[in-house]
Amino acid sequence: MKIAVVGLGHIGLPLAVQYAGRGHEVVGCDTAAWIVDAINRGESPHDDEQALIDRVPQLVADGRLRATTDDVEGVRGAEAVVVIVPVVVDSQRQIDFGPIDAATRDIAAGLQPGTLVIYETTLPVGTTRDRFGPMLEAGSGLTLDRDLFLAFSPERVLVGRVFRDLRRYPKIVGGTSAKSTRRATDFYRAVLEEGTEVRAVASAETAEMTKLAETTYRDLNIAYANELARYAARRGIDVLEVIESANSQPYSHIHQPGVGVGGHCIPVYPHFLFNDAPELRLPPIAREINEEMAGWTVDRIEEAVGSLVDQPVLILGIAYRGDVREDAFSTAFRLRDELAAAGARVYAHDPYFDDEHLRRLGFEPYDLDAPQPVKVAILQAAHERYRGLDPAALPGVKLFLDGRNALESEPFAAAGIRYLGVGHGG
Ligand SMILES: NC(=O)c1ccc[n+]([C@@H]2O[C@H](COP(=O)([O-])OP(=O)(O)OC[C@H]3O[C@@H](n4cnc5c(N)ncnc54)[C@H](O)[C@@H]3O)[C@@H](O)[C@H]2O)c1
Repeated sequence: MKIAVVGLGHIGLPLAVQYAGRGHEVVGCDTAAWIVDAINRGESPHDDEQALIDRVPQLVADGRLRATTDDVEGVRGAEAVVVIVPVVVDSQRQIDFGPIDAATRDIAAGLQPGTLVIYETTLPVGTTRDRFGPMLEAGSGLTLDRDLFLAFSPERVLVGRVFRDLRRYPKIVGGTSAKSTRRATDFYRAVLEEGTEVRAVASAETAEMTKLAETTYRDLNIAYANELARYAARRGIDVLEVIESANSQPYSHIHQPGVGVGGHCIPVYPHFLFNDAPELRLPPIAREINEEMAGWTVDRIEEAVGSLVDQPVLILGIAYRGDVREDAFSTAFRLRDELAAAGARVYAHDPYFDDEHLRRLGFEPYDLDAPQPVKVAILQAAHERYRGLDPAALPGVKLFLDGRNALESEPFAAAGIRYLGVGHGG
């Protein structure tokens, strides 16, 4: 099959490599020339996964993978087009369809009769059929479900383990008609590994909502864990012991509490679901609870050590989670603002970002190898680097707030430093 993958980012490139690895002829399209140039040189532009670094050179050399900055040219001649260009959201989580609309217009201009177009980017319910369907028809002159086929299939993988997740998770597929669904399920059976479950659902809308339901579930569950943590802290109960005990009953799956929820997905996709759905009452409340956690944590710090006015406070890890070099909607920003509002001098350390990057994000960089005195340290991202953190590495620290409940409390106690987790006291 001739396949075009539009968007060669952290997810799109692994998909292109997966399809080419199954013997198909893949053209990857991306507006970023550095990505396209690297691929055409036979190098992976992304280092998230060793498999990319290993496999891109051979696939390019064999002529099974090439890249272009011209979406129209890349799509021309393709029997199937997979779109994985992000939908952008601003700091208020307002949706900007600009980049994916631009990609859609270019795809339409290159489409041949009979082509299947599949969107994998997470979308608000109805976007595939109601927004992209008419755009593709208008730009191509083709008619949906007659000589143009359209489906949505959510991408459920995590960056850094895309190939493994592609094999493990069922591929959910919903088209704009029965024929489009069938075309799309046939496509995935041909491009995924043998034995991967490909599951057709009733419609494109069902597939779109499935992705929003699964990410919003995690937001709700974490919000519940956070509320339990807040209650447990007030009652002097260790919430981690409660959750572990509760989850020993097979119907209980309570997630872990923490200082906040960051990333491209969990803090964002619930908005895709509830922004225009007044009947959904739980998701907005869960969002609010999770957003409040940074403020709640700073209040706990002030209770423990007194006023933070002019006090140095260190945030360890500004990435949105442990061991990723990504800061989208990271709780570090909310912590920074809450600490600054409390009058603290805020420092940050992150092994994944250099000092210049930290300054650009509004943090004063902190050097763990030449440490300055700090009053409080907050673990925001549980990077491996912090696992065996020596309390002596933080001179003057009175309180260590483990925002991810990730470290052992004993070394801090032994060093005479107070340790607090979220919902447990160490
Ligand atoms: N990152 C994740 O962990 C993850 C997980 C599951 C699903 N997803 C979904 O995948 C989507 C893409 O995520 P990602 O991490 O690959 O994003 P990314 O930012 O790494 O890559 C997106 C790519 O699209 C390119 N692009 C933008 N406009 C374009 C256009 N008009 N034509 C061609 N290319 C264009 C960009 O240059 C970029 O390289 C997300 O929006 C999300 O819906 C992501």
